Amino acid sequence: MFLGNKSKSKKPATNPAGTPAATPKSSKAAAKKKAKARAAEAKKAQSVLWYDAITESGVCVLGGGKYSVMLRLSDINYQLATDDRQRELLERYARFFNLFSMGQQLQVTIVNRRLERDTLLGKVLFPEPLHGDAVSVYRSDHNKLVRSMIGESRYSIVAEKYLTLTVSGESLDEALAVLNPLVEQVTNQMWTLLECRAHRVDGPGRIELLRELTRGCYAAGFDYAGMARSGATTRDELAPQAVEFPTRSELVLAGDEGDIWCQTLVLRDYPSWMSDQLFRRLSEVQTDLVISFHISPIDRSESRDLVMRRKAELDMERTDRRRKLVKANMDPEEDLPESLKRSLAEVKDLMHDLDDNDQRLYTTTLVVMVQASSAEELKDRVTKVRQAAKTESCDLAVMKFFQEQGFNTALPLGESFLPVHRTLTSAAVAVMVPFTSQEILDDQGLFYGTNAATGNPIIADRRRTRNGNAFVLGTSGSGKSHFSKWEIAEVLIGRPNDEVIIIDPEHEYRPLADAFDATVVDVHAGSSQVINPFDIVLNTREGDPVRLKAESLLSMLRVLLGGGRGLSAAQESILDRSITTLYHRYLDDQNQPVPTLRSLHGELLLQAEPEAAAIATALEMYATGTFSGFAQQTNVDVSNRFIYYDIAKLGDHMKTFGMMVVLDQVWNRVMSNFGRGIRTWLYVDEFHLMFTNPHALATFLSIYKRARKYGLLPTGITQNVEELLAVPEARLMLSNCDCLFLLGQKKTDADELAVLLGLSDDQIRAFTSVEAGYGLLSFGATTLPFNARKEQSPRGPLLTLLDTTFDDRS
Ligand SMILES: Nc1ncnc2c1ncn2[C@@H]1O[C@H](COP(=O)(O)OP(=O)(O)O)[C@@H](O)[C@H]1O
Ligand SMILES: [Mg+2]
Repeated sequence: MFLGNKSKSKKPATNPAGTPAATPKSSKAAAKKKAKARAAEAKKAQSVLWYDAITESGVCVLGGGKYSVMLRLSDINYQLATDDRQRELLERYARFFNLFSMGQQLQVTIVNRRLERDTLLGKVLFPEPLHGDAVSVYRSDHNKLVRSMIGESRYSIVAEKYLTLTVSGESLDEALAVLNPLVEQVTNQMWTLLECRAHRVDGPGRIELLRELTRGCYAAGFDYAGMARSGATTRDELAPQAVEFPTRSELVLAGDEGDIWCQTLVLRDYPSWMSDQLFRRLSEVQTDLVISFHISPIDRSESRDLVMRRKAELDMERTDRRRKLVKANMDPEEDLPESLKRSLAEVKDLMHDLDDNDQRLYTTTLVVMVQASSAEELKDRVTKVRQAAKTESCDLAVMKFFQEQGFNTALPLGESFLPVHRTLTSAAVAVMVPFTSQEILDDQGLFYGTNAATGNPIIADRRRTRNGNAFVLGTSGSGKSHFSKWEIAEVLIGRPNDEVIIIDPEHEYRPLADAFDATVVDVHAGSSQVINPFDIVLNTREGDPVRLKAESLLSMLRVLLGGGRGLSAAQESILDRSITTLYHRYLDDQNQPVPTLRSLHGELLLQAEPEAAAIATALEMYATGTFSGFAQQTNVDVSNRFIYYDIAKLGDHMKTFGMMVVLDQVWNRVMSNFGRGIRTWLYVDEFHLMFTNPHALATFLSIYKRARKYGLLPTGITQNVEELLAVPEARLMLSNCDCLFLLGQKKTDADELAVLLGLSDDQIRAFTSVEAGYGLLSFGATTLPFNARKEQSPRGPLLTLLDTTFDDRS
């Protein structure tokens, strides 16, 4: 029987499946009739949804003067936190509930969704073209590696967390006047108390989520403009095709891709000692389910009254029992029933909590809705869910006759329709923490490995974070280069528009550069591959390009000519004048070649001051002499999308200068890429070398600070954590960077990093005494242990490439 009526009318509706196939004369008429029947069915099915409207801004009008908004909560690391930290989080979470006053309602909802392995793989595998191209072998090897890392299990469970807030009001406007500031407070408190990000979900977002639960339809967003034009409502959008109650305790929705069998369970008997593991246990049942916990604050004075009344009841019962016991010649204290003794003790504790511990009381209801695609599957899943609850001494009862109420209570609408309540204190409410462990599953992310705590893949998008700047830190052999090369390969294969630049002091990335057709620039004073420090990008939005270029050239020349002492004011002025003259000459006549150190040398010789002649002499060795490797026009193709600067052969004498010239080239490229709307990924291995000289450090810092604005994603890679942490600027960069990949560390470094970054013992364990490829990553506000280990036997071409260094090869 299909019905879907809020008024519980038992009037049987037509069952389209049961209707005998009609054989009308006109098939058109039949189609019309069918359509009409379907429309009627749909209308009835709509009534299974107990709300009136959802506005585009995300307010759900529940009827009866109630309005709700929904926030999506980021997870926080609760399961992995230390015991102390867990206790602190529970206390803070309990404090959070003090925000709410009488008449306001909260609903915490956890939507456990099984992600099909294929769906996950679809996000991270590269499509393999029919006809191979130059990188085909690496692409298919990449896909093989990803498959093996994600593992064989068919599903991954991801738990999404929501908070729905409900208030009463005479009108939508009146409700909003309360809801808007409340949402702001909740968002602030969630962050300051728990470091949980709460984001208000708009209308299309709420519909997206509800549609999955009511129709089993995964589709993005909702077209409000289209709805206005067609006259349809959000209820039309969310209604299943039909609704049926096959038994008193089951609800079947005819979804887009088959039936959805639903059963709602309610937590009836709370154990006297509730554990904080119930939600985690339920999440471990690998199944689709929705957990909703409804919480309504009770006024303080009413709370007291309530407890007093309960106490009075119990006292009366005790007196009564005692009398009976005395009559029966039994001990009036000892022989009281255990349950009564327990209740008396509980009520005493409760009085104490309310008076002295700043606790409040809440009316709560906890429901779990299990969904499945058949009756058998539902039965099986419900059994598993109930068993899981049992392990935490919780009895989840099936609600007979109340499935429709249960369904609407489980949906994140913001209201409980069930007559089952339980009064709990703030502390007891807080024990039901919805938080477990964090996941990163960004929509357009790259694949970094799996979450070592949950086994789910880590799909992360550095572009999403505040600045996108990253560090890869770990001892020698911990897998830093391997990790970085993997990310580079992901970018090169998977983001065809992005560009990659590597600065490598140890030939480590050379095989990768060769395999992916990089422009290889061998940077040293005697190299035949020349990069010209005078190269200039003219169309920047940073101000006068000649002025800026002159400044950066001056800082390079300070290093080259001034040694440790720098240059005198007179020397700087002469150099500045000469450089500016050269550029203006170049800009006036487009046929002029770009200036070089050689032309600077010539220009200095033309100046009148004896000081100029002295500088010219000092410059001679770099302009025409032994170290003239930077004195000519750039002769390598720096417009390639992959550029590899090998700085291993830069002698000590030229090291800082050479690095500054390379950074200058990189910045030129970043600016011109930015102008073309292209993102640049920069990798600097042995990154601590940048800190050996204050001039190189200043150059790097200025790039680092401007990175975000110009679409640059810089990554510093180093094993010398101690050295890095000794430089205040580096510490600052480290504590401000949004992406941190910590591979295996020395104990001393780990301890210092833990202090700097505020990590828990469990988090520290994730990157100490671990095998190569394991570690802890931090992505914006999310920190989780990762496993990037790749095992393949025999090794395929990509893995071979990741683990080959130049020296292995030669
Ligand atoms: N994710 C990984 N999976 C499997 N083996 C790895 C992984 N990372 C590193 N290794 C192994 O450890 C060796 C050292 O890694 P490497 O990246 O060169 O370390 P680092 O750059 O930190 O010195 C590699 O040659 C490889 O054999
Ligand atoms: Mg390395």
